[in-house]
Amino acid sequence: MDIWRIRGGRKLDGVCFVQGSKNASLPILAASLLSGGETQLHNVPQLRDIDAALRILRHLGCTAEQRENEVYISAGGLTRSAIPRRLMLEMRSSVIFMGALLARCGEARLCPPGGCQLGRRPIDLHLGALRQLGAEIDDSGEEIVCTAKALRGAEIRLPFPSVGATENTMLAATAAEGETVIRGAAREPEIAALQDYLRAIGCEVHGAGTDTVVIRGGRGTQSAEHRIIADRIAASTMACAAAACGGSVELRGVDPAHFSTVLYFLKQAGCDIISENRSVWLRSAGKLHAVGEIVTRPYPGFPTDAQPVLMAALLKADGRSLITETIFENRFRQVPELRRLGADIGLAGQSAEIWGVDSLHGTVLNATDLRGGAAMIVAGLTAEGQTVVYDEGHVRRGYEQFDVRLRALGADIYLDN
Ligand code: UD1
Repeated sequence: MDIWRIRGGRKLDGVCFVQGSKNASLPILAASLLSGGETQLHNVPQLRDIDAALRILRHLGCTAEQRENEVYISAGGLTRSAIPRRLMLEMRSSVIFMGALLARCGEARLCPPGGCQLGRRPIDLHLGALRQLGAEIDDSGEEIVCTAKALRGAEIRLPFPSVGATENTMLAATAAEGETVIRGAAREPEIAALQDYLRAIGCEVHGAGTDTVVIRGGRGTQSAEHRIIADRIAASTMACAAAACGGSVELRGVDPAHFSTVLYFLKQAGCDIISENRSVWLRSAGKLHAVGEIVTRPYPGFPTDAQPVLMAALLKADGRSLITETIFENRFRQVPELRRLGADIGLAGQSAEIWGVDSLHGTVLNATDLRGGAAMIVAGLTAEGQTVVYDEGHVRRGYEQFDVRLRALGADIYLDN
């Protein structure tokens, strides 16, 4: 059990080096088994979800190791195409191995993935797209069994721009005969990052970042070196923490365009923000104003993953803020815990109404999920007295050295584990 102990009320000041992106790393780790070559990745965060992906690669017969933020993978020795249940349940992204295994081995056996309980999180779009590429999929039992004698390029229209389904389809399509066109594709920066890696191993892919991604089959075979982009959600979290606590923070290494919607609302709340090529300066007096309605949407809309931490930043803002969640059904799990700090939040369906309060009071909380746990920590930083967050490891699935990074900015936070 991780126990986060926070004494609120400190301003945050200084430089924060933003960690590498978890959500960009995971599909690229799965993609590393496509070529059978060697992959060297830089700027990979040290996280539980990354460990889980490396363990899956090793189970499949690859060599995969992480030294600090470098990861080395050699996929030549891949011998298996089945992922055991215990490894699948560790994280949601394990499902991305389906497309990669199908491409490399013509077969993949796995069970439905684990991850945060944010709602139903079905994988029907993944399965539908892979079937259109010619995969036969039996998902009637405990295990999902995918086989394909030969994958063939297809025109696939995703009814919703699912990040995972876009990635899985891109991976499988690298081994399909002919051209695959994904319409209605997710446009997240992590999709463009996957395209960059796939090109580095010799695949022909274009269009990532728009709603149409085109892949010409003929699997990549080259070894590659690739740098993981900075984590826009970790950057958003630090920005929200600095906004709520007050102070002056430089977020270094991150592309401001990747979290411009979050910065837009923090500006509306009263922060001074200067964005440069690879960094963002944020100055806050610590007293924020309520903002107009925030609605979570697929990229380039407001990210659902940043919703809980922005909510935490607005708990003491002047007036009423409204957040509407449209991506996941169950993404307000942090709310009952935040109320225990004294927050005034009303829930009606998929909307949360936040009335700013003058003060929050530290207490004992339980982290419900990754971003919800981060929101409790951000709220704790602005609460009077001590906040203790009990956490079954959710926060460390996605945040690298969260306590260390916050302490470097002046926060009083310690992690016991
Ligand atoms: C990814 C991110 C996650 C983020 C989410 C939305 C990773 C590792 N995770 O998750 O942090 O919150 O994007 O930005 O990158 N859906 C279906 N059927 C499917 C697939 C998805 O109905 O087959 C629904 C989901 O239930 C959800 C919505 O589509 O309501 C978005 O899901 P998706 O974009 O696929 O998210 P993930 O790839 O799981």
